[in-house]
Amino acid sequence: MRGRFVDKLKGEQAENSVAHYLITGVAGFIGSHLTDALVERGETVRGLDNFSTGRIENLAALRHRIDLHEIDLRDARAVAAACEGMDYVLHQGALPSVPRSVKDPRTSHESNVDGTFNLLEGARMAKVKRVVYAASSSAYGNQPGFPRRETMCVEPIAPYPAQKVMGELYMQSFWRVYGLETVCLRYFNIFGPRQVPDSPYSGVMAKFILQMMQGEQPIIFGDGEQGRDFTYVDNAVQANLLAMHADAEKVAGRVFNVACGERHTLNQTYRLLAGLLGFDREPEYGPERAGDVQNSLADITAAAEAFGYRPQVGFEEGLRRTVEWYAKEQGVRSRV
Ligand SMILES: NC(=O)c1ccc[n+]([C@@H]2O[C@H](COP(=O)([O-])OP(=O)(O)OC[C@H]3O[C@@H](n4cnc5c(N)ncnc54)[C@H](O)[C@@H]3O)[C@@H](O)[C@H]2O)c1
Repeated sequence: MRGRFVDKLKGEQAENSVAHYLITGVAGFIGSHLTDALVERGETVRGLDNFSTGRIENLAALRHRIDLHEIDLRDARAVAAACEGMDYVLHQGALPSVPRSVKDPRTSHESNVDGTFNLLEGARMAKVKRVVYAASSSAYGNQPGFPRRETMCVEPIAPYPAQKVMGELYMQSFWRVYGLETVCLRYFNIFGPRQVPDSPYSGVMAKFILQMMQGEQPIIFGDGEQGRDFTYVDNAVQANLLAMHADAEKVAGRVFNVACGERHTLNQTYRLLAGLLGFDREPEYGPERAGDVQNSLADITAAAEAFGYRPQVGFEEGLRRTVEWYAKEQGVRSRV
Protein backbone atom coordinates (compact mmCIF):
# COMPACT_ATOMS: atom_id res chain seq x y z
CA MET A 1 0.00 0.00 0.00
CA ARG A 2 2.75 2.42 1.03
CA GLY A 3 4.82 1.41 -2.05
CA ARG A 4 1.86 2.18 -4.34
CA PHE A 5 1.45 5.52 -2.62
CA VAL A 6 5.13 6.43 -3.14
CA ASP A 7 4.92 5.42 -6.83
CA LYS A 8 1.84 7.60 -7.22
CA LEU A 9 3.65 10.53 -5.63
CA LYS A 10 6.58 10.05 -8.02
CA GLY A 11 4.16 9.99 -10.98
CA GLU A 12 2.56 13.23 -9.79
CA GLN A 13 6.00 14.81 -9.46
CA ALA A 14 6.87 13.98 -13.05
CA GLU A 15 3.67 15.72 -14.19
CA ASN A 16 4.03 18.60 -11.81
CA SER A 17 7.61 19.78 -12.08
CA VAL A 18 6.90 23.34 -10.93
CA ALA A 19 6.49 22.53 -7.18
CA HIS A 20 9.39 24.11 -5.33
CA TYR A 21 8.52 24.43 -1.65
CA LEU A 22 7.98 21.52 0.69
CA ILE A 23 6.44 22.28 4.08
CA THR A 24 6.53 19.50 6.64
CA GLY A 25 3.91 19.74 9.37
CA VAL A 26 1.88 21.70 6.83
CA ALA A 27 -1.44 21.21 8.65
CA GLY A 28 -0.08 22.45 11.96
CA PHE A 29 -0.34 25.88 13.50
CA ILE A 30 2.83 27.45 12.07
CA GLY A 31 2.99 25.25 8.94
CA SER A 32 -0.46 26.36 7.82
CA HIS A 33 0.44 30.05 8.23
CA LEU A 34 3.58 29.48 6.15
CA THR A 35 1.38 27.83 3.53
CA ASP A 36 -0.94 30.86 3.45
CA ALA A 37 2.01 33.20 2.93
CA LEU A 38 3.64 31.16 0.16
CA VAL A 39 0.39 30.56 -1.73
CA GLU A 40 -0.43 34.26 -1.43
CA ARG A 41 2.95 35.03 -3.04
CA GLY A 42 2.05 32.74 -5.92
CA GLU A 43 4.51 29.99 -5.00
CA THR A 44 3.82 26.31 -5.55
CA VAL A 45 3.65 24.35 -2.33
CA ARG A 46 3.79 20.68 -1.49
CA GLY A 47 2.87 19.78 2.06
CA LEU A 48 3.26 16.68 4.17
CA ASP A 49 1.70 15.85 7.49
CA ASN A 50 0.55 12.81 9.43
CA PHE A 51 -2.24 14.86 11.07
CA SER A 52 -1.22 13.81 14.58
CA THR A 53 -1.55 17.33 16.02
CA GLY A 54 -2.25 19.16 12.75
CA ARG A 55 -5.76 19.63 11.40
CA ILE A 56 -7.02 19.51 7.85
CA GLU A 57 -9.31 22.46 8.71
CA ASN A 58 -6.18 24.62 9.03
CA LEU A 59 -5.77 24.24 5.29
CA ALA A 60 -9.46 24.59 4.45
CA ALA A 61 -9.06 27.60 2.18
CA LEU A 62 -6.00 26.16 0.42
CA ARG A 63 -6.71 22.46 0.24
CA HIS A 64 -7.00 22.50 -3.55
CA ARG A 65 -4.21 24.99 -4.15
CA ILE A 66 -1.42 22.88 -2.67
CA ASP A 67 -0.05 19.41 -3.32
CA LEU A 68 -0.98 17.77 0.00
CA HIS A 69 0.21 14.33 1.11
CA GLU A 70 -0.47 12.32 4.21
CA ILE A 71 3.04 11.17 5.04
CA ASP A 72 4.68 10.33 8.34
CA LEU A 73 8.16 11.75 8.87
CA ARG A 74 9.15 8.37 10.30
CA ASP A 75 8.62 6.80 6.86
CA ALA A 76 12.00 7.47 5.23
CA ARG A 77 11.00 6.30 1.76
CA ALA A 78 7.86 8.42 1.58
CA VAL A 79 9.72 11.47 2.94
CA ALA A 80 12.47 11.03 0.33
CA ALA A 81 9.84 10.85 -2.42
CA ALA A 82 8.21 14.02 -1.11
CA CYS A 83 11.57 15.85 -1.31
CA GLU A 84 12.12 15.03 -4.98
CA GLY A 85 11.79 18.05 -7.26
CA MET A 86 11.83 20.49 -4.33
CA ASP A 87 14.08 23.54 -4.12
CA TYR A 88 13.28 24.63 -0.58
CA VAL A 89 12.08 22.87 2.55
CA LEU A 90 10.45 24.46 5.59
CA HIS A 91 10.71 21.76 8.23
CA GLN A 92 7.96 22.40 10.79
CA GLY A 93 6.80 18.83 11.37
CA ALA A 94 7.39 17.63 14.92
CA LEU A 95 5.51 16.53 18.00
CA PRO A 96 5.80 19.69 20.07
CA SER A 97 5.20 20.10 23.81
CA VAL A 98 7.49 19.50 26.76
CA PRO A 99 4.86 17.67 28.89
CA ARG A 100 4.08 15.27 26.02
CA SER A 101 7.78 14.42 25.69
CA VAL A 102 8.09 13.89 29.45
CA LYS A 103 5.14 11.48 29.41
CA ASP A 104 6.11 9.63 26.21
CA PRO A 105 9.67 10.44 25.14
CA ARG A 106 9.98 7.66 22.58
CA THR A 107 7.11 8.76 20.34
CA SER A 108 8.28 12.35 20.22
CA HIS A 109 11.89 11.21 19.73
CA GLU A 110 10.88 9.19 16.68
CA SER A 111 9.05 12.09 15.03
CA ASN A 112 11.44 14.83 16.11
CA VAL A 113 14.83 13.18 15.74
CA ASP A 114 14.36 10.24 13.35
CA GLY A 115 11.86 12.32 11.36
CA THR A 116 14.32 15.20 11.03
CA PHE A 117 17.08 12.82 9.99
CA ASN A 118 14.81 11.26 7.33
CA LEU A 119 13.95 14.72 6.05
CA LEU A 120 17.61 15.73 5.79
CA GLU A 121 18.54 12.53 3.98
CA GLY A 122 15.64 13.05 1.57
CA ALA A 123 16.64 16.68 0.99
CA ARG A 124 20.26 15.74 0.40
CA MET A 125 19.42 13.02 -2.11
CA ALA A 126 16.98 15.35 -3.90
CA LYS A 127 19.59 18.14 -4.03
CA VAL A 128 17.32 20.59 -2.26
CA LYS A 129 18.85 24.09 -2.15
CA ARG A 130 17.99 24.99 1.43
CA VAL A 131 16.23 23.60 4.51
CA VAL A 132 14.92 26.00 7.17
CA TYR A 133 14.28 24.21 10.45
CA ALA A 134 11.87 25.08 13.25
CA ALA A 135 14.19 24.95 16.27
CA SER A 136 13.14 25.90 19.79
CA SER A 137 14.13 28.47 22.41
CA SER A 138 13.70 25.67 24.96
CA ALA A 139 17.27 24.74 23.94
CA TYR A 140 18.56 27.42 26.36
CA GLY A 141 16.95 25.74 29.39
CA ASN A 142 17.07 27.49 32.75
CA GLN A 143 20.67 28.72 32.70
CA PRO A 144 21.29 32.27 33.94
CA GLY A 145 21.77 35.15 31.52
CA PHE A 146 19.22 37.22 29.62
CA PRO A 147 18.59 38.00 26.86
CA ARG A 148 19.38 34.66 25.27
CA ARG A 149 22.04 34.87 22.58
CA GLU A 150 22.84 32.21 20.02
CA THR A 151 26.41 32.10 21.32
CA MET A 152 25.21 30.70 24.69
CA CYS A 153 25.54 26.98 25.22
CA VAL A 154 22.47 24.78 25.07
CA GLU A 155 21.07 23.20 28.24
CA PRO A 156 17.99 21.19 27.34
CA ILE A 157 16.18 20.08 30.49
CA ALA A 158 13.59 17.70 29.03
CA PRO A 159 13.30 15.25 26.13
CA TYR A 160 11.55 17.71 23.77
CA PRO A 161 14.28 20.40 23.87
CA ALA A 162 16.95 17.69 23.65
CA GLN A 163 15.26 16.39 20.49
CA LYS A 164 15.03 19.86 18.97
CA VAL A 165 18.72 20.48 19.72
CA MET A 166 19.59 17.16 18.10
CA GLY A 167 17.74 18.41 15.02
CA GLU A 168 19.88 21.57 15.02
CA LEU A 169 23.07 19.51 15.25
CA TYR A 170 21.97 17.35 12.35
CA MET A 171 21.08 20.47 10.33
CA GLN A 172 24.54 21.91 10.93
CA SER A 173 26.32 18.65 10.20
CA PHE A 174 24.54 18.28 6.85
CA TRP A 175 25.75 21.77 5.91
CA ARG A 176 29.31 21.07 6.98
CA VAL A 177 29.64 17.61 5.51
CA TYR A 178 27.35 17.62 2.46
CA GLY A 179 27.02 21.34 1.70
CA LEU A 180 23.22 21.19 2.10
CA GLU A 181 22.29 24.74 3.13
CA THR A 182 20.45 24.61 6.43
CA VAL A 183 19.23 27.38 8.73
CA CYS A 184 17.86 26.85 12.26
CA LEU A 185 15.31 29.31 13.63
CA ARG A 186 14.83 29.08 17.39
CA TYR A 187 11.21 30.11 17.88
CA PHE A 188 10.27 31.79 21.15
CA ASN A 189 6.67 31.07 22.25
CA ILE A 190 4.85 31.55 18.97
CA PHE A 191 1.14 32.31 19.31
CA GLY A 192 -1.76 33.23 17.04
CA PRO A 193 -4.83 31.84 15.28
CA ARG A 194 -5.13 28.05 14.81
CA GLN A 195 -3.00 27.05 17.77
CA VAL A 196 -4.69 24.02 19.31
CA PRO A 197 -6.38 25.25 22.50
CA ASP A 198 -8.02 22.14 23.89
CA SER A 199 -5.36 19.49 24.37
CA PRO A 200 -3.45 18.88 27.62
CA TYR A 201 -0.36 19.81 25.57
CA SER A 202 -1.62 23.11 24.19
CA GLY A 203 0.38 26.31 24.49
CA VAL A 204 -0.58 28.58 27.35
CA MET A 205 -2.01 31.41 25.30
CA ALA A 206 -4.52 29.37 23.30
CA LYS A 207 -5.53 27.49 26.45
CA PHE A 208 -6.21 30.67 28.45
CA ILE A 209 -8.30 32.12 25.63
CA LEU A 210 -10.46 29.02 25.22
CA GLN A 211 -10.96 28.59 28.97
CA MET A 212 -11.92 32.24 29.41
CA MET A 213 -14.36 32.00 26.51
CA GLN A 214 -15.95 28.94 28.08
CA GLY A 215 -16.14 30.61 31.50
CA GLU A 216 -13.66 28.15 33.02
CA GLN A 217 -10.97 29.17 35.49
CA PRO A 218 -7.53 28.92 33.82
CA ILE A 219 -4.65 27.39 35.78
CA ILE A 220 -1.26 29.06 35.89
CA PHE A 221 1.50 26.61 36.76
CA GLY A 222 3.89 28.42 39.15
CA ASP A 223 3.39 31.94 40.51
CA GLY A 224 2.71 33.50 37.10
CA GLU A 225 5.74 35.78 37.30
CA GLN A 226 7.65 33.66 34.80
CA GLY A 227 8.14 35.68 31.62
CA ARG A 228 7.94 34.69 27.97
CA ASP A 229 9.08 36.37 24.78
CA PHE A 230 5.67 35.80 23.16
CA THR A 231 5.89 36.13 19.39
CA TYR A 232 2.95 36.53 17.03
CA VAL A 233 2.95 33.91 14.27
CA ASP A 234 3.30 36.39 11.38
CA ASN A 235 6.74 37.27 12.72
CA ALA A 236 7.82 33.62 12.53
CA VAL A 237 6.50 33.42 8.96
CA GLN A 238 8.46 36.52 8.02
CA ALA A 239 11.65 35.07 9.55
CA ASN A 240 11.27 31.83 7.57
CA LEU A 241 10.76 33.57 4.25
CA LEU A 242 13.70 35.92 4.80
CA ALA A 243 16.02 33.15 6.02
CA MET A 244 15.07 30.99 3.04
CA HIS A 245 16.39 33.52 0.54
CA ALA A 246 19.19 35.28 2.40
CA ASP A 247 22.77 34.99 1.15
CA ALA A 248 24.18 31.59 2.04
CA GLU A 249 27.35 33.18 3.49
CA LYS A 250 25.19 34.92 6.06
CA VAL A 251 22.90 32.10 7.13
CA ALA A 252 23.97 28.62 6.07
CA GLY A 253 24.81 26.34 8.99
CA ARG A 254 23.74 28.97 11.51
CA VAL A 255 21.18 29.23 14.32
CA PHE A 256 19.02 32.35 14.90
CA ASN A 257 16.59 33.46 17.59
CA VAL A 258 13.13 34.39 16.30
CA ALA A 259 11.22 36.44 18.85
CA CYS A 260 10.13 39.97 19.67
CA GLY A 261 12.86 40.76 22.19
CA GLU A 262 10.32 41.58 24.96
CA ARG A 263 9.34 39.71 28.09
CA HIS A 264 5.73 39.44 29.31
CA THR A 265 4.77 37.52 32.43
CA LEU A 266 1.95 34.99 32.49
CA ASN A 267 0.09 37.17 35.03
CA GLN A 268 0.35 40.16 32.70
CA THR A 269 -0.78 38.09 29.71
CA TYR A 270 -3.69 36.73 31.73
CA ARG A 271 -4.86 40.24 32.67
CA LEU A 272 -4.67 41.51 29.08
CA LEU A 273 -6.62 38.52 27.75
CA ALA A 274 -9.19 38.81 30.53
CA GLY A 275 -9.65 42.49 29.59
CA LEU A 276 -10.12 41.66 25.90
CA LEU A 277 -12.62 38.93 26.70
CA GLY A 278 -14.46 40.63 29.57
CA PHE A 279 -13.48 37.77 31.91
CA ASP A 280 -13.49 38.72 35.59
CA ARG A 281 -12.28 35.59 37.42
CA GLU A 282 -8.83 35.25 38.96
CA PRO A 283 -6.58 32.40 37.77
CA GLU A 284 -5.98 29.31 39.86
CA TYR A 285 -2.31 28.72 40.64
CA GLY A 286 -0.91 25.17 40.40
CA PRO A 287 2.49 23.55 40.96
CA GLU A 288 5.27 24.17 38.45
CA ARG A 289 5.47 21.52 35.72
CA ALA A 290 8.54 19.33 35.23
CA GLY A 291 10.68 20.43 32.32
CA ASP A 292 9.11 23.90 31.93
CA VAL A 293 11.49 26.73 31.12
CA GLN A 294 11.10 29.50 33.70
CA ASN A 295 11.84 32.54 31.59
CA SER A 296 12.53 33.41 28.00
CA LEU A 297 13.78 36.59 26.43
CA ALA A 298 15.69 36.76 23.17
CA ASP A 299 18.34 38.91 21.63
CA ILE A 300 17.22 39.15 18.00
CA THR A 301 20.16 41.13 16.66
CA ALA A 302 21.69 38.20 14.77
CA ALA A 303 18.55 37.60 12.67
CA ALA A 304 18.23 41.34 12.04
CA GLU A 305 21.81 41.56 10.81
CA ALA A 306 21.86 38.36 8.76
CA PHE A 307 18.50 38.60 6.99
CA GLY A 308 16.78 41.81 8.02
CA TYR A 309 14.30 40.24 10.45
CA ARG A 310 12.24 42.76 12.39
CA PRO A 311 9.04 41.77 14.19
CA GLN A 312 6.09 43.37 12.40
CA VAL A 313 3.31 42.53 14.86
CA GLY A 314 3.78 43.45 18.51
CA PHE A 315 2.56 41.53 21.56
CA GLU A 316 -0.68 43.42 22.26
CA GLU A 317 -1.69 43.65 18.60
CA GLY A 318 -0.98 39.92 18.29
CA LEU A 319 -3.18 39.24 21.33
CA ARG A 320 -6.02 41.24 19.81
CA ARG A 321 -5.80 39.41 16.48
CA THR A 322 -5.66 36.06 18.22
CA VAL A 323 -8.63 36.73 20.50
CA GLU A 324 -10.63 38.02 17.55
CA TRP A 325 -9.94 34.84 15.59
CA TYR A 326 -10.89 32.48 18.45
CA ALA A 327 -13.99 34.55 19.18
CA LYS A 328 -15.11 34.14 15.57
CA GLU A 329 -14.33 30.41 15.67
CA GLN A 330 -16.21 29.86 18.90
CA GLY A 331 -19.03 32.30 18.11
CA VAL A 332 -18.23 34.38 21.22
CA ARG A 333 -18.29 38.17 21.52
CA SER A 334 -14.98 39.78 22.45
CA ARG A 335 -14.13 43.40 23.19
CA VAL A 336 -11.58 43.74 20.38
N1 LIG B 1 4.60 26.99 18.68
C1 LIG B 1 5.72 27.34 19.30
O1 LIG B 1 5.75 28.22 20.16
C2 LIG B 1 7.04 26.67 18.94
C3 LIG B 1 8.19 27.05 19.65
C4 LIG B 1 9.39 26.45 19.31
C5 LIG B 1 9.46 25.54 18.28
N2 LIG B 1 8.33 25.17 17.63
C6 LIG B 1 8.44 24.19 16.53
O2 LIG B 1 7.72 24.67 15.43
C7 LIG B 1 7.19 23.58 14.67
C8 LIG B 1 5.71 23.77 14.43
O3 LIG B 1 5.06 23.79 15.71
P1 LIG B 1 3.52 24.17 15.88
O4 LIG B 1 3.42 25.02 17.07
O5 LIG B 1 2.98 24.62 14.58
O6 LIG B 1 2.92 22.75 16.28
P2 LIG B 1 1.80 21.87 15.58
O7 LIG B 1 1.62 20.68 16.45
O8 LIG B 1 0.60 22.69 15.29
O9 LIG B 1 2.49 21.46 14.21
C9 LIG B 1 3.32 20.33 14.06
C10 LIG B 1 2.84 19.58 12.82
O10 LIG B 1 3.70 18.45 12.61
C11 LIG B 1 2.88 17.32 12.32
N3 LIG B 1 3.61 16.10 12.69
C12 LIG B 1 3.95 15.68 13.94
N4 LIG B 1 4.58 14.51 13.89
C13 LIG B 1 4.64 14.17 12.57
C14 LIG B 1 5.15 13.05 11.87
N5 LIG B 1 5.73 12.03 12.51
N6 LIG B 1 5.03 13.02 10.52
C15 LIG B 1 4.44 14.05 9.86
N7 LIG B 1 3.91 15.13 10.46
C16 LIG B 1 4.03 15.19 11.81
C17 LIG B 1 1.63 17.52 13.14
O11 LIG B 1 0.52 16.78 12.69
C18 LIG B 1 1.43 19.02 12.97
O12 LIG B 1 0.67 19.33 11.82
C19 LIG B 1 7.55 22.32 15.46
O13 LIG B 1 8.72 21.77 14.88
C20 LIG B 1 7.86 22.83 16.85
O14 LIG B 1 8.78 22.00 17.52
C21 LIG B 1 7.11 25.71 17.93
